Amino acid sequence: MLRRALLALLPLVGSAFAQTASSYVDSGNGFQFVGLTDPVHQVTYGLTFPPLPASGPAPTEFIGEIVAPIASKWIGFALGGAMLQNLLLVAWPNNGQIVTSTRFATTYALPTEYDGPVLTTLPSSSVNATHWKWVYRCQNCTSWQGGGSIPLTSGAAVAWAYSDVAVDQPANPQSTFSEHTDFGFFGIDFSSAHNANYESYLSGNGGTPPPTSVPPTGPSTTTQPTGPTIQPTPYDYIVVGGGPGGIISADRLSEAGKKVLLIERGGPSTAETGGTYYAPWTADKKLTKFDVPGLFESMFSDSNPWYWCKDITVFAGCLLGGGTSINGALYWYPTTSDFSTAAGWPSSWTNHGPYTNKLKARLPSTDHPSTDGKRYLTQAYDVAWQLLKNQGYNQITINDNPDFKDHAFGYSAFDFIDGKRGGPVASYLRTAKARSNFAYMDYTLVSNVVRNGSQITGVQTNNTQIGGNGIIPLNPNGRVILSAGSFGSPRILFQSGIGPSDMISLVQQNADAAKNLPPSSQFINLPVGMNVQDNPSINLVFTHPSIDAYENWANVWSSPRPADAQQYLSNFSGVFAGASPKANFWRAYGASDGKTRYAQGTVRPGAASINTTLPYNASNIFTITMYLSTGITSRGRVGIDAALRARPLVNPWFADPVDKTVLVQALKDVVATMDQVPNLTMITPDVQMTIDQYVNAYDPPSMNSNHWVGSNTIGTSPSTAVVDENTKVFNTNNLFIVDASIIPSLPTGNPHGMLMSAAEQAVAKILALAGGP
Ligand SMILES: Cc1cc2nc3c(=O)[nH]c(=O)nc-3n(C[C@H](O)[C@H](O)[C@H](O)COP(=O)(O)OP(=O)(O)OC[C@H]3O[C@@H](n4cnc5c(N)ncnc54)[C@H](O)[C@@H]3O)c2cc1C
Ligand SMILES: *[C@@H]1O[C@H](CO)[C@@H](O)[C@H](O)[C@H]1NC(C)=O
Ligand SMILES: *[C@@H]1O[C@H](CO)[C@@H](O)[C@H](O)[C@H]1NC(C)=O
Ligand SMILES: *[C@@H]1O[C@H](CO)[C@@H](O)[C@H](O)[C@H]1NC(C)=O
Ligand SMILES: *[C@@H]1O[C@H](CO)[C@@H](O)[C@H](O)[C@H]1NC(C)=O
Ligand SMILES: *[C@@H]1O[C@H](CO)[C@@H](O)[C@H](O)[C@H]1NC(C)=O
Ligand SMILES: *[C@@H]1O[C@H](CO)[C@@H](O)[C@H](O)[C@H]1NC(C)=O
Ligand SMILES: *[C@@H]1O[C@H](CO)[C@@H](O)[C@H](O)[C@H]1NC(C)=O
Ligand SMILES: *[C@@H]1O[C@H](CO)[C@@H](O)[C@H](O)[C@H]1NC(C)=O
Repeated sequence: MLRRALLALLPLVGSAFAQTASSYVDSGNGFQFVGLTDPVHQVTYGLTFPPLPASGPAPTEFIGEIVAPIASKWIGFALGGAMLQNLLLVAWPNNGQIVTSTRFATTYALPTEYDGPVLTTLPSSSVNATHWKWVYRCQNCTSWQGGGSIPLTSGAAVAWAYSDVAVDQPANPQSTFSEHTDFGFFGIDFSSAHNANYESYLSGNGGTPPPTSVPPTGPSTTTQPTGPTIQPTPYDYIVVGGGPGGIISADRLSEAGKKVLLIERGGPSTAETGGTYYAPWTADKKLTKFDVPGLFESMFSDSNPWYWCKDITVFAGCLLGGGTSINGALYWYPTTSDFSTAAGWPSSWTNHGPYTNKLKARLPSTDHPSTDGKRYLTQAYDVAWQLLKNQGYNQITINDNPDFKDHAFGYSAFDFIDGKRGGPVASYLRTAKARSNFAYMDYTLVSNVVRNGSQITGVQTNNTQIGGNGIIPLNPNGRVILSAGSFGSPRILFQSGIGPSDMISLVQQNADAAKNLPPSSQFINLPVGMNVQDNPSINLVFTHPSIDAYENWANVWSSPRPADAQQYLSNFSGVFAGASPKANFWRAYGASDGKTRYAQGTVRPGAASINTTLPYNASNIFTITMYLSTGITSRGRVGIDAALRARPLVNPWFADPVDKTVLVQALKDVVATMDQVPNLTMITPDVQMTIDQYVNAYDPPSMNSNHWVGSNTIGTSPSTAVVDENTKVFNTNNLFIVDASIIPSLPTGNPHGMLMSAAEQAVAKILALAGGP
């Protein structure tokens, strides 16, 4: 699903990656703050609060500072850990002064003026040749509309946004500006940020400073809990990451009798797994955000979306189930071409049928997820069919004929089960958990594998109660399987001294991570992070009087339509038994380079962002997202930055101009028969813009489809691939990868169905490979 590349925050405390604030004294003004300096941009963020009174009202103000190198054109600071539904401070220098505003955002668009809080710039603020420094008092700033607030006696996360592009009207505090160029999160213990000298700070006096210290740079280690040491158990297989790749691997390995440990950094997701994140109306029935398909769109509007990984700069699920607990669950059985040598697979992989059949037996797809067998909210399907039937499309049941993807149109298919989110968690994980030779550990982060040259001996976790230093060992001949996802698995490799030297050197510069690296003589140079692909996707927004836009899904979490809520709670049927997508279609395109590329369309009521000069009825909006899939040639790169955040380094969208030409053609084709559908109006782009102008102006990160593959691509040579045909990391004896990162190029549809077939095949090859436990 297409979403903007903007996140929210949080798990921080105790994580080896998450950045955590600590106490420092600004030597310029003598104030003691709790904060940190981001190691990538060298911007310092600090906060300090008045003491907490023994009784009576808690303070509603604080003093903060932002000290930024002059290259920082503007800085944003979110007082909760997300851009949406939180009080935002924005500041930039202009003519020797700091220009400031308080703002708010309810959608991923330019935050607007927000009144109520009072900002006062304090005297130690300055602008010089190298830095600007904003020291401010923020009154009426500890709570804001929508119920958000700073927890003055506990910990929470805050977020920052950075831009190296100047605002549009620097003298105007309410200036417009473009989307930030970077962002991040850090954890802060507000209970330790109350300062007895607060009043003297307000009068510009540092009071009695405690011993001087400097702001902490980069990821910091937190004090490890003390407690009884757990004797580490060795395993035959340690699987790192509880997403689809990891769950299927762990299930099949344990089925084969191996002693298996599955390690997940996050916690429970669906109710079945112990999750308790209920919507107000689903609490009585103990159904979580991750259980109810119709809550999918609310993943992107939550004021505290704790389930996203806070150290990955694109959307990634950090909870049990990984992406399959937060995704749209669009589920396509793979096509023959998805596993072809042309797609980059070794020839030993092309017979995917038996593995796809194993997957289908465990997890069948449905294009009518409501338990009463009926389809709901089908108006967008009907209008899209009116549009495309005049273009030679065929209406089919898509997963009945996976290879038919040229001019194919049908109902969206999902891996929902009994009206609830299903996926690998409600299938493969169930059988794994029932086995005594399967163990599961959650809230446990693996930073690196422990190795002696090419031999992996265990994994390093952040739980230092295990064996004293957190290392979980392997049995003799044991193996590690990384399933931490397209960003997570590369990061573990870098921290294990495997990958390009520029990435390993970032690890060497981080004191906490560097100490776990093997000696440099043992570094393994592989193209980790190279060759990534993601579908570029572009949204077209339309209106039609027959469409029910479902209030653009805005009310599903807190005030759903009562009849729909009741129907779901009683019978797991109705609108809430399905996610937002209603129709999908594909078409093949030839191109000037002789290659065939497929375009995919996804149709859903509602719209993520609208830019139009036309009047329109918001109750009638729907979106067609057009993606380019199989055959796409563009590649990018992913890696880490100095804060060890995992991120795209080179964007993969439209790197090859032929990809752009084909997607533009596909967009033009979709709208070519618009005149034949009475009252169908395209509002974005509107009549003022051509499709070409629209695509040229499209914000590149908004083309992200969250379908990243290829960062540890499979192949036959360590110069072009990271894993061999058995998914073993080249130049290691016993390290394997099973997740989206090994997929050599994008499949024809949204990838998780194809990935799960690949996982079935990978684990079969791993079990068959001699030398294992
Ligand atoms: C917003 C969104 C919508 C999507 N919609 C669809 C869709 O509708 N259809 C579709 O087919 N695909 C969709 N996708 C893509 C799909 O979800 C992914 O391709 C799929 O989840 C990838 O699986 P994976 O096993 O490679 O990794 P992931 O699903 O990312 O799982 C990795 C797991 O490893 C854990 N982990 C990571 N690092 C560590 C560590 N160091 N230690 C311990 N554990 C770790 C994570 O917490 C996570 O549980 C969507 C993705 C997103 C983000
Ligand atoms: C390890 O990291 C996870 C994920 O960030 C976190 O939830 C957990 O609390 C950490 N454990 C320890 C002991 O620090
Ligand atoms: C404080 O700010 C809120 C908005 O967050 C506003 O509604 C309220 O009126 C303000 N209170 C005072 C006393 O100014
Ligand atoms: C410029 O400002 C920064 C931040 O306040 C400060 O650290 C630095 O010393 C200043 N440089 C000079 C030359 O005064
Ligand atoms: C590492 O492996 C080598 C053989 O490859 C062995 O000689 C050496 O003892 C091992 N080192 C450790 C610390 O296990
Ligand atoms: C639930 O299903 C039953 C049987 O089909 C039906 O009689 C009942 O009206 C349904 N309840 C709701 C709230 O839709
Ligand atoms: C919004 O639409 C107008 C024309 O209606 C166009 O000029 C402008 O560039 C568009 N903005 C974006 C971000 O696409
Ligand atoms: C907008 O659409 C809704 C739903 O179709 C309809 O009830 C309403 O009358 C429309 N509003 C206008 C102003 O046309
Ligand atoms: C289109 O809209 C007009 C009014 O604007 C209305 O009279 C007509 O019935 C509509 N046609 C359809 C097919 O909805």
